[in-house]
Amino acid sequence: MKLNKQDILKALETITVPGEGQNMVESGAVTNVVTFGDEVVVDVTIKNPSLQAKKKTEVEIMKAIHNEVYEKAKVKVNVKVNAPAAPKNEIKGKPIPGIQNIVAVASGKGGVGKSTVTANLGATLAKMGFKVGILDADIYGPSIPIMYDVEFERPISVNVGGKSKMKPVESYGVKILSIGFFTKPDQAVIWRGPMAAKALNQMIFDADWGELDFLLIDLPPGTGDIHLSIMQSLPITGAVVVSTPQQVALADAKKGVAMFQQESINVPVLGIIENMAYFTPEELPDNKYFIFGKEGAKNLSEDLEVPFLGEIPLIQSIREAGDVGRPAALQTATPLEAAFEKLTQNVVQEVVRRNDALPPTEAIKITTMAGCSAVKK
Ligand SMILES: Nc1ncnc2c1ncn2[C@@H]1O[C@H](COP(=O)(O)OP(=O)(O)OP(=O)(O)O)[C@@H](O)[C@H]1O
Ligand SMILES: [Mg+2]
Repeated sequence: MKLNKQDILKALETITVPGEGQNMVESGAVTNVVTFGDEVVVDVTIKNPSLQAKKKTEVEIMKAIHNEVYEKAKVKVNVKVNAPAAPKNEIKGKPIPGIQNIVAVASGKGGVGKSTVTANLGATLAKMGFKVGILDADIYGPSIPIMYDVEFERPISVNVGGKSKMKPVESYGVKILSIGFFTKPDQAVIWRGPMAAKALNQMIFDADWGELDFLLIDLPPGTGDIHLSIMQSLPITGAVVVSTPQQVALADAKKGVAMFQQESINVPVLGIIENMAYFTPEELPDNKYFIFGKEGAKNLSEDLEVPFLGEIPLIQSIREAGDVGRPAALQTATPLEAAFEKLTQNVVQEVVRRNDALPPTEAIKITTMAGCSAVKK
């Protein structure tokens, strides 16, 4: 059997490129086809960097040639990835050099585990080799410094290009700045939205973060004025919403999602995380007790049509790790490490998907000191 290039191209035209509404030949994905007797070599370039996409492309090409042209053809596929560069976050006229993605961690209700999730996401991302920063924006009760055992450290000032900048404190490979570094312990800080937004802006723009793949922001609980200010002034790539399966937490999580989706904020929701999904005693690791209800956050994500990012059980060692100042996700070869890895991979995947699908989020400049009266620049 002697294969010819035209037949092969025709077979490849039956394969559509996801999201582009074109077939593989039309889209220019097929860069070269060489036939030699019953052998064919196809060079193809795809945009999706995942291994799964590579494999899928290979299988589709083989199938198409076997079905449409010759079932015994010897097919070799060379898949090259040409992923689009992740869009940079920019405030108009005020880019954030080096910070690729800002991910806000929020919840409606307090105490559901935002800070715990942020701390463990950060540690896991760093372990995976990403450059990570955490900005603890909880003006009511900053807890990241405790969870990272840097409660008594303070950022030093460094000179960057003639400008004095704050150098984030580093712990477990994660760069950290917290409102807590600038307030006295036990001091209840009652700030108005624009003041908090200004302080956070300084912690982003007047800090020497260097290159970051991810900057995680641990938000205070709630959906109030302060959140509007924070979110409108920062170009947030996307938000994750943490909830327990409990009804009261879910109702607040729903408000949280709605807040991000409202027109004046318009921050993509990357998904919902179910924390304290069930309780497992250390001595009975196979027992699951659904003390806050079962799969509430998972169901909510389906109702709201936002991705479900994963569940974290209620485990004593997570709380202890938080108190000791070493995120639980760093306990190697434990089910917890695996749970946080799965969760983190899902978050990264949603960030990649979001960046493929949408333009960068625009920040809105706060122009007055009165709570919500922010005006689009
Ligand atoms: N999965 C878990 N297993 C055990 N303990 C947990 C878990 N998640 C959180 N905790 C504990 O619950 C408490 C509240 O968690 P955390 O501080 O992370 O919540 P938060 O949503 O950030 O709270 P706040 O609204 O006050 O900022 C902490 O003591 C923490 O150690
Ligand atoms: Mg917190």
